[in-house]
Amino acid sequence: MDLPRNVNGGAFYDQPGVAEQFREHRESGARSPNLVMEEPAVLAELGSLAGLRVLDLGCGDGSFGRTATAAGCRSYLGIDASQAMVAEARSRLTGTGARVEHSDLAQLEGQAGAFDVIVSRMVLHYLDDVGPVLAAARRSLAPGGRLVITVAHPVLTAPKLVEATGERTSWLVDDYFEPGARERPWFGRTVTWFHRTVEEYVREVMTAGIRLTSLQECAPVEARFEGDEPELRRRRRVPLFLLLAGDIPG
Ligand SMILES: C[S@@+](CC[C@H](N)C(=O)[O-])C[C@H]1O[C@@H](n2cnc3c(N)ncnc32)[C@H](O)[C@@H]1O
Repeated sequence: MDLPRNVNGGAFYDQPGVAEQFREHRESGARSPNLVMEEPAVLAELGSLAGLRVLDLGCGDGSFGRTATAAGCRSYLGIDASQAMVAEARSRLTGTGARVEHSDLAQLEGQAGAFDVIVSRMVLHYLDDVGPVLAAARRSLAPGGRLVITVAHPVLTAPKLVEATGERTSWLVDDYFEPGARERPWFGRTVTWFHRTVEEYVREVMTAGIRLTSLQECAPVEARFEGDEPELRRRRRVPLFLLLAGDIPG
């Protein structure tokens, strides 16, 4: 089966109802693995954003923009390829001074040394080729600048076939060393993600000229599960997220 290359992941989020489903998914409290596992790991990795110029690649509905502006960042620019997400982000960020641009990361050129922190949460697995965007991120970081990215964990993106069932009770890791497009059921539709191995992500970051400083799998922390033992056990079964952080030595 031939799957597409160079899909614009933003178009998926522009389909009717998807942006709303995304918001519900993210706002489902302790049942949202992003809120209880991925976001805390990203925030811990970032540390203080006060006074920093922040670029958010694939900013979605701007929720991280709210966090960054509330934390006193000097400036915030979010970029996303979905019109619906950009509209939501602009509305959420009204009055904060943040900016949001509609653009495809595959075309990103970057601005030399214009940012202190670049974040990209759960976006790069929508891109066929992450080399150009990481190179643009590298160019855009000032000396001492930092990059933090998260992606769907490669054990999840690996298999070519995943059944659209309800809550999953078993996971298959297969086709791991075959990078490329994968179709997945997502919000009742089919999304295209791009699989690459852990070592490929690491290599891409390093090839871009970014010094790798951290690799995390955002393991569940018991205290964040509000006594929901079954959910904690479930989240201990397979990794959902891969986080890579790096910097440009000052
Ligand atoms: C899972 S959402 C994550 C949004 C946000 N980073 C967050 O964590 O809340 C993925 C986002 O990536 C955006 N996206 C996917 N492919 C993109 C591309 N090629 N260029 C820019 N944005 C893209 C989508 O429009 C969507 O908003």
